[in-house]
Amino acid sequence: MALIDLPLLMKDAARGKRSAVTCALKCASQCAFGPCNHSDNPTFRDIASSALSRRAVLGGGTGALAIALGGTQGALAAPGNGKGNGNGNGNGGKSGALAPNGSKLRFEAIAPVEYTADDFTVAEGFDWHPIIRWGDPLFDDAPDFDWNAQSAEAQRLQFGYNNDYTEIQEIPGTNGKRAVMFVNHEYTNENIMFPPETDADDAIEIGMAAHGLTVVELERKNKNFPYSYVRGAALNRRIHLDDEFQLTGPAAGSDLLKTVDDPEGRTVLGTLGNCAGGLTPWGTLLSGEENFHGYFRSAATSEAEQRYGFADRATARGWESKHERFDATTEGYENEINRFGYIVEVDPFDPTSTPRKHTSLGRFKHEGANVIVAENGKVVAYSGDDERFDYLYKFVSRDTYVEGDRAHNMTLLENGDLFVAKFTGNSPASEIDGSGELPEDGAFDGSGEWLPLVLDGESAVPGFTLEEVLVHTRLAADAVGPTKMDRCEDVEPSLHSRRVYVACTNNSNRGVGDYAAADEVNPRTENRDGHIVEIDEQGDQTSTAFAWNLLLVAGDPAQGDQTYFSGFPVEQVSPISCPDNLAFDSVGNLWISTDGAPSGIGYNDGLFRVTLGGEARGRVEQFLSVPRDGETCGPIIRDEDRTAFVSVQHPGEDGEWGAQLSYFPDYDGQGPKPTVVQVLPQRG
Ligand code: FEO
Ligand code: CA
Ligand code: CA
Repeated sequence: MALIDLPLLMKDAARGKRSAVTCALKCASQCAFGPCNHSDNPTFRDIASSALSRRAVLGGGTGALAIALGGTQGALAAPGNGKGNGNGNGNGGKSGALAPNGSKLRFEAIAPVEYTADDFTVAEGFDWHPIIRWGDPLFDDAPDFDWNAQSAEAQRLQFGYNNDYTEIQEIPGTNGKRAVMFVNHEYTNENIMFPPETDADDAIEIGMAAHGLTVVELERKNKNFPYSYVRGAALNRRIHLDDEFQLTGPAAGSDLLKTVDDPEGRTVLGTLGNCAGGLTPWGTLLSGEENFHGYFRSAATSEAEQRYGFADRATARGWESKHERFDATTEGYENEINRFGYIVEVDPFDPTSTPRKHTSLGRFKHEGANVIVAENGKVVAYSGDDERFDYLYKFVSRDTYVEGDRAHNMTLLENGDLFVAKFTGNSPASEIDGSGELPEDGAFDGSGEWLPLVLDGESAVPGFTLEEVLVHTRLAADAVGPTKMDRCEDVEPSLHSRRVYVACTNNSNRGVGDYAAADEVNPRTENRDGHIVEIDEQGDQTSTAFAWNLLLVAGDPAQGDQTYFSGFPVEQVSPISCPDNLAFDSVGNLWISTDGAPSGIGYNDGLFRVTLGGEARGRVEQFLSVPRDGETCGPIIRDEDRTAFVSVQHPGEDGEWGAQLSYFPDYDGQGPKPTVVQVLPQRG
């Protein structure tokens, strides 16, 4: 039997420079089928009248009616000119100044690289080293990878496909020589992984085994040498689609989460669409379940299904043909779709631990989640819903962080309150014309409110029970009137300045037809290149009020794009498009990795440093560029050691077997392999 026929399913799906097959596998051709948010997004006045009909749709009981509105406040103050305070341990503390650079990682920005180049390009004086690539054996009994003899059994013991979020922590007591790395495997590119004659059933099982998560130990001679991974190390682990995850929080055990396989509604097999993530202050990893809708067939008759993009059609990978739980039209599995779309927490230091899915952070297409300990000791997690016109969320824990009490801290994401963001601009709407040109006050800026969805542990959305808010979070959010955003990807609080940065990657539908028009926080019609929002909660990370401004409006000034780099001269910046993942270095510079630049400015994706403070605020410098069709993911910056790490996801994904477009990282004439790469200074 031949490999599943992807192009027939999705032949009109492609956008920009991306192929139809890529679109089908990446996000179930979301572009082709349009955004899921058709809500009128009513004002508060409209909520009471809509509550009854919404209850009918969801079949839920009454929820608490308490709604607390945060007050508004002024726009974000001008950035400080002092040095970063360098005390970023995430444990409370006051807002610090923004860093005016000063990093030990010094480099001259590279020129952008044309999107057809199959090169990994780094700044002069640096080398790049693959650490681990798709198919590398993780265990002593794992077979070496063989392009022409793949099997699910082998893949289960090897590094998975499409490495996205990546984090590295030193293993205590190893003198900096040993570390543990955690990696998400977001999705698979079956079109370039297998020979076309691969049996369809085998292709499904191999593809499933290439999803999930990896924990793997690394070692190095010293900090001047690159890491390599350790086959057979004690912490090595693959987490698969048949591994148990424990549901936590108020929705665990809900009728909405029960299936014939799990009548208690508390145990899910596997995780899907794991995109970005975050490191908690207690050393666990968070992983966002993002485009989970593309793995299920569903009747899609309810508002709840439609709002998440489920459809009654064969999926691109066809898993539902072999595993009935992926067909939600099958009796007993109707709720399987409700068991994905959460933030997952994994303890990389305990290979026997059961990963958890935290319902308290809500269910949506989580890009990832990033945690900071608030001034009052509560834990705050920020998370974006990465779909056009969806929302930005914040979770505030019920309990407080206790330094050194890891067992307690590991429970903090299980209970708390959930909020969704509403942005208000301070310039007249008439001055936001969709071009990206600054309004008369010289800034895209204003105030904002975190609107409660869960408050004091109870539903804050009329007509929604607590369980409904946490499982049908998009519908609950629609009811309270948040701002429709241009695809929030990573949302990262700086442990230096305590400001929060939101990567809005792009939104081709902004201001088009009946879709929402440009506003001050999403100021460009047909937003091709994205922008970065900077949020300041002004000394209280649990506050319901904030100030905001746009740090960057991305693009290529040399191509005539209407851009903004916080006033830094546009002719001196590296062109940048489609910001996705964010990271900070030790002195508080922001680093941005991109996904989609080929469709934006026509260059390969890359990693960029942005100075946040001082006269150079807004300066963007490109550090590296990844091979064609590749996305730059999971940046880790260790500027003290003059080294950085990125995951290169889906290199050459627009190719096909026999006509590959990339041979990264080995350039051996076989095909591309997603790979985690370390960059460090050239030696000798
Ligand atoms: Fe998987 Fe939002 O990127
Ligand atoms: Ca303004
Ligand atoms: Ca991403």
